[in-house]
Amino acid sequence: MKGKDIFNSERFFAPVSSEEEAVFNLSLRPKEIKDFVGQTNIIKTLRITIEAAQKRGEPLEHILLAGPPGLGKTSLAYCIANAMGVKLTSTSGPAIERAGDLIGILTNLDKGDILFIDEIHRLSRVVEEFLYPAMENYQIDFVIDKGPYAKSIKFNLKPFTLIGATTRQGSISGPLRSRFGLFFNFEFYNTDELSLIIRKSGLHLNLDIEREAVYEIARRSRGTPRLANRLLRRVRDYAQVKGRPLAGREIVEEALNSLKIDKAGLDEFDRRYLKVLIEIYKGGPAGVEALSASLNESADTLIDVIEPYLLQIGFIKRGNRGRLATEKAYEHLGVFLK
Ligand SMILES: Nc1ncnc2c1ncn2[C@@H]1O[C@H](COP(=O)(O)OP(=O)(O)O)[C@@H](O)[C@H]1O
Ligand SMILES: [Mg+2]
Repeated sequence: MKGKDIFNSERFFAPVSSEEEAVFNLSLRPKEIKDFVGQTNIIKTLRITIEAAQKRGEPLEHILLAGPPGLGKTSLAYCIANAMGVKLTSTSGPAIERAGDLIGILTNLDKGDILFIDEIHRLSRVVEEFLYPAMENYQIDFVIDKGPYAKSIKFNLKPFTLIGATTRQGSISGPLRSRFGLFFNFEFYNTDELSLIIRKSGLHLNLDIEREAVYEIARRSRGTPRLANRLLRRVRDYAQVKGRPLAGREIVEEALNSLKIDKAGLDEFDRRYLKVLIEIYKGGPAGVEALSASLNESADTLIDVIEPYLLQIGFIKRGNRGRLATEKAYEHLGVFLK
């Protein structure tokens, strides 16, 4: 939130975070699977898979992690590398412009190492196709020279594991998806899980904070650990500025109200989204492109960041003709159904 007063920012839950926050997140990132809170089904399957791979002395199958931002995809990738005792090399879809950018990375991987590709749905078609044989038989084909002297060379890689992360599972092409052995869909965290994460972060920050207060933060974090941690820091700052101890529920409520985060955990932008849907589009159905134009926000952000939680809490529905506001959304905004 560069140059903006955080206490007056409409987009408290914006995905862009400060550098300070990035460092803070890194320090709070669970390092081992046993520290990873929640996502119990994923963890259960993963533990078995890891143990089996280790027994066979083979690398893990390729893994696709999908879900909204801030739910722990990157953290889990590092936990997996840790459990396997291997090196993780990290890159992202948009960072790989040409297939050539991948050759160096792939040839540097040792047996069992992990290549983590964030935002894998944003790989170009050409790069994606270059990856197929690498994923399938640990082989890459590349062309050297041009014109009549061009030669295609096959190169053998050491068996590695690709972990892909995506906020947009619908945008993963069929052929790419089918090359992953494991597919994990992250879910929003419940209040108890978020409370546990906040308590741990509180310990890390040396904060003395009551159960009730922890719970209140958890309730308003949109089911998202990254946001829970962000709120905790904001509440701490608020208490500091006011010269009050950060302990009870009162100061937490005060801080969250000053951040304009409501009881449902929505920030001003979420409420504006609902307002536009209800007032301009009469509750829908409204296409995402139309909403994007009215809100002056990219359709990608609406789809990846704003809508998943509104869908989860049943404030909107997604049909094939567009988005619809539900009765719950009307009630929340205090607009009465005609
Ligand atoms: N399961 C979890 N347990 C504890 N903390 C978590 C968990 N998942 C995420 N976090 C916290 O949230 C932050 C963001 O998680 P991250 O892995 O970057 O999410 P994603 O890659 O899905 O956007 C982490 O730095 C960590 O502090
Ligand atoms: Mg990530």
